[in-house]
Amino acid sequence: MTATKAIILAGGSGTRLYPLTAVISKQLQPVYDKPMIYYPLATVMLAGIKDILIISTPHDLPHFESVLGNGNQWGINIEYKAQAAPKGIAEAFIYGKEFIGNNQVCLILGDNLFYGKLDFLRKALQSNTGATIFGYQVHDPERYGVVELHPDGTVISIEEKPKHPKSRYAIPGLYVFNNDVISIAENLEPGPRGELEITDVQKQYLQQGKLRVELMGRGIAWLDTGTPESLLEASQFIHAVEKRQNLKIACLEEIALQMNYITAEDYNQCIQRLPKSSYREYCERVAQEFIPQYD
Ligand code: DAU
Repeated sequence: MTATKAIILAGGSGTRLYPLTAVISKQLQPVYDKPMIYYPLATVMLAGIKDILIISTPHDLPHFESVLGNGNQWGINIEYKAQAAPKGIAEAFIYGKEFIGNNQVCLILGDNLFYGKLDFLRKALQSNTGATIFGYQVHDPERYGVVELHPDGTVISIEEKPKHPKSRYAIPGLYVFNNDVISIAENLEPGPRGELEITDVQKQYLQQGKLRVELMGRGIAWLDTGTPESLLEASQFIHAVEKRQNLKIACLEEIALQMNYITAEDYNQCIQRLPKSSYREYCERVAQEFIPQYD
């Protein structure tokens, strides 16, 4: 089986969050106590992926690099690539062509947050043969890519932001594709909004009979952060869960330790370099107490 690489797409214009995005890119905005990018990064690390490419705008990319570095401190490899203009989510595979190599790829949008047991993703990474997407029930599917399902679970149709959705299942910004995705993206025509649409990639797999959808159960929280209100709600959600359990969500140092990406010694050295903060205190507590498996 091929290895899995991950791409976190964290560019775009972020206009809906203006004036916040006049200060810093959307995916570096705080979601309660961490920059937004920590959450999708945590998701791919917890899924067992150690090779990660972050794609952002030429303007914002240096900020991501200065926040995250090369990933060595967490025992992972982070690379960076600038997307010249936001010409579509599917461009990630064109910009990521060399990085992906002959492997399969997991794409996550930098503004999509997942919380809960990630077995659905681990299973998809192990069993994917073409493309695997996920379905998540929402009250406003018209805001998303929507998947229509046959009662036997096979996909009938995929539509991007339909005015009259054929189902309540939105497609979250988390996808697994085999290596064919590179040539599919390279041969794609822009859609009505002038972008290479990720739903058009999914439609190609559907035509080839190679698109699988897994429904995300109620135990998973999928939050998006596209508007000031949803950004606040995401912060409130993270705050509520962290406060109740006295555990942090998406603490990358803790995840690196739990996943054995770094040794206990590396971990201690890593947290010595953190500035004095409640985040560092938490990391110190993790080193002292036994905290059971992360998710
Ligand atoms: O959130 C899930 C939805 O994401 C899916 O259900 C849709 O099928 C998919 O098209 C996408 O819809 P959005 O309308 O949310 O896509 P948006 O154009 O807002 O882009 C999503 C993120 O990707 C955004 O934070 C910016 C980033 N992006 C987007 C484009 C088009 C880039 O980095 N580069 C780009 O070229």
